[in-house]
Parts: sequence; C-alpha cells; structure tokens
Amino acid sequence: MSTPVKLAVIYYSATGSSAVIAKEIGEVAEKAGAEVRLLRVAELAPAEAIASNEAWAAHAAASADIPVATPADVEWADAVIFGTPTRFGNVSSQLKQFLDQLGGLWAQGKLADKVYSGFVTTATLHGGQESTLLALYNSVHHFGGVLVAPGYTDPAKFVDGNPYGTSHVDAQGAIPVGEQALAAARVQAERVIRFATALKSTAA
Ligand SMILES: Cc1cc2nc3c(=O)[nH]c(=O)nc-3n(C[C@H](O)[C@H](O)[C@H](O)COP(=O)(O)O)c2cc1C
Repeated sequence: MSTPVKLAVIYYSATGSSAVIAKEIGEVAEKAGAEVRLLRVAELAPAEAIASNEAWAAHAAASADIPVATPADVEWADAVIFGTPTRFGNVSSQLKQFLDQLGGLWAQGKLADKVYSGFVTTATLHGGQESTLLALYNSVHHFGGVLVAPGYTDPAKFVDGNPYGTSHVDAQGAIPVGEQALAAARVQAERVIRFATALKSTAA
C-alpha cells in the first residue's frame, strides 16, 4: 500500500484570517488521506506592536499552541501550502523570513520536485491578492517546485474568483472568512493532494 502524502500547511497570520483558511486546508487534506502538519511561522514583530492591536494580541494568544515551522518540515513534506496576509501587495515579512531560511535545503536540491501552492488574505478587494501569490510563487520556481494553482478547475473557483490561490477580503477583520473562501480552500487542498499523490507514485 502506498504511504500517504505528507502535507505541510505553513502560514503567517497576525489577526487570524489566514489562520482560518490554513486550518480548513489542513482538515480537508487530512480527510483526503494526507498526513498533515499545520504550522505557523515565527513572529518577528516586537511585543509592543502586537500588544497595541487587540485582534493581533488575541490571535497571538489563541495560536500559541500551533507548532512553529522549521525547514525540516519542508524537507519532510511532499507538498507545501503557504499562506500569508498581504503586506503592500507582497508576502508578509514573517513568511518571507521563513522562506529565506530554506537556503540550505535549496543548495542540497531538497526543495525540488515537491508540490507547492498558496493562499492569501487582504483587507480590500484589489489590495494585492494576485501580486502577493505571484511573489510567493517566484520562490517556488527557484525551488524547482511543482506549482499547483487552483485555476478555474471547479465551480467554487468562479465564486472565489481567484485562480492563483484561495483568497479572502477581510476588511481588516470586519468580514470573517466565510463559505466562499472555505469552499475555494477545499478545492485547492484536494487538488494539491491529488497532484502530490500522483507525483509521489512516480518516485523511485
Ligand atoms: C503593514 C500592512 C500592510 C498591509 N497591506 C495591505 C495591502 O496592500 N492591501 C490590502 O488589501 N490589505 C493590506 N493589509 C491588510 C492585511 O493584509 C489584511 O487585513 C489581512 O487579511 C490580514 O490577515 P490576517 O488576519 O491573517 O493577519 C496590510 C496590513 C498591514 C499590517
């Protein structure tokens, strides 16, 4: 019998929106038979900055039990789904810092031939969802990864409207992640697991 696909869901979330999507992806992937590690990246912001924002402080406390990702988690995984809130149309510095720690694995060729995908949250509709995902995906190409974007492969993606990856507009926390983004997340998770399973079956 084949071994299950190993999926690492690695995300940053300050105020919790991206974390909701990460959790949904992890649960769906597990139901699809994957072995899942749900991991947050290390926080870089000073404690005073976090404490000055009620939602940020609350989410930091609520997610304290989620393990912090290490490069070894990427090495372990057959597939990695990264998630981030946008920061001026770009990947958050916290997730970027994590990516920048992957140089050692990259140099050994250990980031290649895995499946990668991504999701994003923004405050506004045109606030940089695609640019953030494309920026994230630059790194995937350098890894030699197999990028599995959702495309418009499922009716749910027409509702979500983002073929680059699951996305949600949260109006700075005023709009909780709802069924639209969760449905897109499910499509993306299942698609990633499907492709990772196929890829794994071709490995020696
Ligand atoms: C420094 C900073 C820059 C941001 N830049 C943008 C932006 O360019 N466009 C946007 O729509 N939202 C922007 N946001 C808002 C967050 O990306 C957005 O509220 C996100 O959904 C929060 O996700 P989280 O709850 O997972 O932290 C920014 C927030 C911060 C703190």
